[in-house]
Amino acid sequence: MIQMRHEYLESIDSTNNEIKRRAVAGETEGLVISAGKQTAGRGRSGHQWETPADISIATSLLLRPTVAIDHLSSLTLVAAVAVRRAIEELYGIETWIKWPNDVIIHGKKVCGILTEMSASEGKAEYVVVGIGVNVHQTSFSEELADKAISVDMALKEQDPFGAKRGDCKELTYRIWQEFALLYEAFCMTEDLSIIMEEYNRFLINRNAKVRVLDPNGEWEGIARGIDESGKLLVETKEDLRQVDSGEVSVRGVYGYV
Ligand code: BTN
Repeated sequence: MIQMRHEYLESIDSTNNEIKRRAVAGETEGLVISAGKQTAGRGRSGHQWETPADISIATSLLLRPTVAIDHLSSLTLVAAVAVRRAIEELYGIETWIKWPNDVIIHGKKVCGILTEMSASEGKAEYVVVGIGVNVHQTSFSEELADKAISVDMALKEQDPFGAKRGDCKELTYRIWQEFALLYEAFCMTEDLSIIMEEYNRFLINRNAKVRVLDPNGEWEGIARGIDESGKLLVETKEDLRQVDSGEVSVRGVYGYV
């Protein structure tokens, strides 16, 4: 099993960037860097990811997998399952996944995952799995208010008079513990067969109408779940199509976006 070594930094540009620097310097698999604050946190599609001081989790893991390079994008889906499990098990909050890798509570995003890879000659030199979780926020900006939620907000909704709050350290450890178990199985099978059933059970846009924007244009269908390679299966009137997360944007028409 992967041996995790945890390091905590008060502030850093981005925990993903720091893992990359350590990887280039020769660090071995299993290093986890978490930070209280990120000054240049990054999200998917070049977006910024806000990490204000000490109210959320910003954590990244260094991997050096020998798995075929084409299968490595599935690690993001593995991480989503690990986060979903960790939140539900620690806090008893019903937690869902929006394909491919957003973790959702009450229809709002609580966690984002950014997986990055450096490869040469068809082999991965290293992979960084970066996870950001909203933990202690009590509200979000007007722009994010109906899209984002924190663990504390979810606990408050569950029990308005309760005193239970999230714990960044405890949650970070649990997430990587869950991830380590799943990663070991993933490296053996090189596919998502170990989590496919669970992923599909908690897929928030399963059996919902989705609109897919891909290089061929925009079309609609019903999301039926993922296959072993992590592609989303979308049923149209004519056929069942496989949608690859690298190429498209998928929006719920009636579901959650
Ligand atoms: C998303 O767009 O949903 C992905 C957000 C990923 C944010 C995390 S926070 C820890 C790690 N460091 C970064 O700069 N990004 C990821």
